[in-house]
Amino acid sequence: MYRKIISLIEKLEARHSLTLEEYEALIGPMTEKSAPDRADEAALLAEKASSVRQQVYGRDVYVRGLIEISNICKNDCYYCGIRRSNRSCERYRLSEQEILECCAQGYELGFRTFVLQGGEDAHFSDEVVCRLVGQIKKNHPDCAVTLSLGERSRESYQRMFDAGADRYLLRHETADKAHYEKLHPPQMSFDNRMRCLRDLREIGYQVGCGFMVGSPYQTARTLAEDLKFIEEFRPDMCGIGPFVPHQATPFAKEPAGTVELTCYLLSIIRLIHPNVLLPSTTALGTIDPRGREKGILAGANVVMPNLSPMAVRKKYELYDNKICTGDESAQCRHCLEQRMESIGYHVVTDRGDVKGWKDS
Ligand code: 5AD
Ligand code: FES
Repeated sequence: MYRKIISLIEKLEARHSLTLEEYEALIGPMTEKSAPDRADEAALLAEKASSVRQQVYGRDVYVRGLIEISNICKNDCYYCGIRRSNRSCERYRLSEQEILECCAQGYELGFRTFVLQGGEDAHFSDEVVCRLVGQIKKNHPDCAVTLSLGERSRESYQRMFDAGADRYLLRHETADKAHYEKLHPPQMSFDNRMRCLRDLREIGYQVGCGFMVGSPYQTARTLAEDLKFIEEFRPDMCGIGPFVPHQATPFAKEPAGTVELTCYLLSIIRLIHPNVLLPSTTALGTIDPRGREKGILAGANVVMPNLSPMAVRKKYELYDNKICTGDESAQCRHCLEQRMESIGYHVVTDRGDVKGWKDS
């Protein structure tokens, strides 16, 4: 095995921190196209990550019910299938009633966290979202409500928090400003995204950040910056999944990220923050039929089954060939339960707060 990598893995395990250069050296050999097979190093890293995860969370896997409330979006991210410029995307928006019904069904299925995710759709004003959050909390006081509605003002985040929202997911997408600008049109700003994350944290949300693995123009250096950012920002959750091209975007012809690199990065993040909530994502399940199982085995501890109404699932297409959009996926919850059991893990049904989080 490659000695340099082994010693970096050992240092990371002992200190939960590396320098930017060290992160780059740890990742570099996994991103080179002509690199020799690094499966042994990846297996060692996964073993360590898995044992750390086991110490904190045992073999429990948390579930969050994902409700895709709208695919209308004012933004035009180059990678995303629901970007404003995609004329072939059939737009929808769930009504408040439909969203509340999804939650009620989810509650019956055992979900205790609901994630409301959507594009940046002006219909979901503070007033609408606050009313929705209030209703969900009133109907299901034992549940956590997570929002994933993109960039908003600090005041807006504060109002939604005051209305009862517990958590907010906003992937930073990349911690490198120049890279960020290659993935987004000039109207979007890296600084504003970072401002949002800091506001969310200061307001008191449990915050999730994250990035795509294998996005165009990504390098070992930009990934090292992502890891350093995650190390310093200390998110409660970190969502990472492979980039998967969508045919109606400027990145249609770009290659997808790999399962191997995604799992490698999941393991590194687990060693940086032993307690962090780390989802094994739908995108990982899309590029490999056993991707989500592999993510858990690499150190992830969360799955986010789809709870959206069947009629809209195909329309929330961030990338091509997204799984869980056909009839067979009516109950992702059970599918995922079986998948987790098949590798010796158990889906649990409490709110699944981050360990070490002090609930007020
Ligand atoms: N491939 C993988 N992930 C994507 N996302 C958006 N488009 C894609 C894609 N083509 C991710 C982004 C976003 C999250 C909701 O989905 O990281 O933050
Ligand atoms: Fe959706 Fe398996 S998780 S069908």
